[in-house]
Amino acid sequence: MTQLPGLLDTEALRKDFPILDRVLHDGKKLVYLDNAATSQTPRQVIDVLSEYYEQHNANVHRGVHVLAEEATALYEGARDKVAEFINAPSRDEVIFTKNASESLNLVANMLGWADEPYRVDSDTEIVITEMEHHSNIVPWQLLAQRTGAKLKWFGLTDDGRLDLSDIEQVITEKTKIVSFVLVSNILGTVNPVEAIVRRAQEVGALVCIDASQAAPHMPMDVQALQADFVAFTGHKMCGPTGIGVLWGRQELLEDLPPFLGGGEMIETVSMHSSTYAPAPHKFEAGTPPIAQAVGLGAAIDYLQSIGMDKILAHEHALTEYAVKRLGEVPDLRIIGPATAEDRGAAISFTLGDIHPHDVGQVLDEQGIAVRVGHHCARPVCLRYGIPATTRASFYLYSTPSEIDALVEGLEHVRNFFG
Ligand code: ALA
Repeated sequence: MTQLPGLLDTEALRKDFPILDRVLHDGKKLVYLDNAATSQTPRQVIDVLSEYYEQHNANVHRGVHVLAEEATALYEGARDKVAEFINAPSRDEVIFTKNASESLNLVANMLGWADEPYRVDSDTEIVITEMEHHSNIVPWQLLAQRTGAKLKWFGLTDDGRLDLSDIEQVITEKTKIVSFVLVSNILGTVNPVEAIVRRAQEVGALVCIDASQAAPHMPMDVQALQADFVAFTGHKMCGPTGIGVLWGRQELLEDLPPFLGGGEMIETVSMHSSTYAPAPHKFEAGTPPIAQAVGLGAAIDYLQSIGMDKILAHEHALTEYAVKRLGEVPDLRIIGPATAEDRGAAISFTLGDIHPHDVGQVLDEQGIAVRVGHHCARPVCLRYGIPATTRASFYLYSTPSEIDALVEGLEHVRNFFG
């Protein structure tokens, strides 16, 4: 078996993930390389979810009975875990949503309804990038359409990085918010946060970071990022689906208006008007995703028991190996940085003129799960003149043998399609 420096003990780790033992059609062992879409769930998280439903299930913040108090303590305990995981100055800065898309839509809608100095209107500009996931494009397009604000973006270089050469023209005195991805889900690029934040701060613009492909893979420190908002999701970091996070700076959360109205988010309600609970509850209308938040807390415990710096080193070693091995496959073109430098563990590629859906199908027949398509980042495909890509993405339990299996699988694809 290939050994690389920095790898985790995957033989032991993989025992935590029952699904990785699955044997698929024709006795083929599952090779799961679709971690950027969703990660697998360790037994430790599954157990916490079962225990929650078997022992503690109740609605939160409303009841005086034992189960309601236990559920509330578990839900709010999960908030503490998230706050610590991202080094938030206060637990009240952590808002639970259903996913990163909802978190980003929440920011866009807070600004859409805000008063000065945050108000987005026809005299102002919103800045994103061409490598955003649709969840960090469409909410801003909607906001621009409704307010008349101008939507601008950073383009991409040929090697899959942000083109910041015109940063002073893109981010101007009119910019109200700059929203960009920390690690691209399609290109794998890790973006230079500092340069963008510095320019945004110069002009007094807010900064929102989509950390969906970063929080699962590297230590997160929202204070070091110096952003105003950071969004991510639970199901890509060993947690359940249906739980996302928006972290926001406390003063902003105090000043900005709520987006959704309902139970849980109010202080008082009369038939004429309402006042709101303080953040984070102001932004959590209705029964929240309670079990899912508890599951995310368990996922954070699990990741921290391994160590985020060790997970990052493991994935970096795998990415280096994958870039090298994929480079040996004839006609394979990596879409995105072609080295492991400043890139995450998602690698998109094309294989000659074989359509990625065909690549994915033949790989699937061999038990290898990858994602094919535009990966909810269609502007990237348009930029590079391709209809779609095949994407392999790794996580803490991925191994060099799985990369070897992928390379071998791609040989089958090439033979199959002549
Ligand atoms: N955003 C997820 C992906 O990139 C779904 O696959």
